[in-house]
Amino acid sequence: MDLKGRDFLTLLDFTPEEIEYLLELSAELKTKKKNGILHDELRGKNVALIFEKTSTRTRSSFEVAAHDLGMGTTYLDPSGSQIGKKESIADTARVLSGIFDGIEYRGYGQEIVEELAEYSSVPVWNGLTNEYHPTQILADLLTIKEHFGRLKGIKFVYMGDARYNMGNSLMIGCAKMGLDFTACAPKKYFPDASLVAKCEEIAKETGAALHFEEDPKVACKGADVICTDVWVSMGEPIEVWEERVKELTPYQVNKEKMDIAGDGCIFMHCLPSYHDHKTQVGKEMGEKFGMDAFEVTNDVFESSASVVFKEAENRMHTIKAVMLATLK
Ligand code: CP
Ligand code: NVA
Repeated sequence: MDLKGRDFLTLLDFTPEEIEYLLELSAELKTKKKNGILHDELRGKNVALIFEKTSTRTRSSFEVAAHDLGMGTTYLDPSGSQIGKKESIADTARVLSGIFDGIEYRGYGQEIVEELAEYSSVPVWNGLTNEYHPTQILADLLTIKEHFGRLKGIKFVYMGDARYNMGNSLMIGCAKMGLDFTACAPKKYFPDASLVAKCEEIAKETGAALHFEEDPKVACKGADVICTDVWVSMGEPIEVWEERVKELTPYQVNKEKMDIAGDGCIFMHCLPSYHDHKTQVGKEMGEKFGMDAFEVTNDVFESSASVVFKEAENRMHTIKAVMLATLK
């Protein structure tokens, strides 16, 4: 499988075979790391990490993965670079292409990372946009594969705001890899119709199934995985909290929903999560709306069904595979 020179902007651009290859490479790199086997196959190369939004997992994963592969990293934060303010995306792409071997971008519209890739002569990796979060989906698929031993036919239920980066990208990943995907939310939170149509086409080829369900009791029945994400994403105005709490509280992942799914169902979340009052925002909004937790209750988050920290670790192994496959 040759992915050298490819951008990694959305999983829509990759075939199921290519995604499977990246998952296998991730597992191989994870085993090497666990066994202390050095694999600095990209020694001498350097990557730029552009973050226009904050990050814990993605930034750490890119940095550690790059260092493990023998590469140097430069972190560019929104205040410390000229991007978008004094220098266009097209100019930035051409400047960074001359200095670095690869560019990670986290920011706002997907069109920005697409433009960066258009003007860049080195691979560009999407570290999250409003529309997609493809490196997260690789980690999620690897986590599911490790837990169940397969992807095909796994009943994956996504609860909550399914029209943003995580909902969109999980639907694509499930369609590509033949899972049984359900988005469970009020209708207005379902993914965009044109993206659903694209995924329906993919599903016809892969044997995946896509469902859109407003009733959590129907959606959670027999689920292998129940997954959620924050109700208000980075960059959204604070005012939307009120409507999200009102409209999405029935979709909070709690014990009742895990019980409907039954034994063996795991809980997933890309993190960070508002499952208690131990964060500034969680506390402030929790007190404002009289809620102990938002998208998931603390008991489910802390339960033995929760695989969220394995999922977080897998960000590093999968991001390493993406960089290795596209640079080597
Ligand atoms: N899941 C995820 O992307 O986390 P960060 O925002 O911390 O990178
Ligand atoms: N939907 C979330 C994902 C964070 C990893 C956000 O965009 O803030």
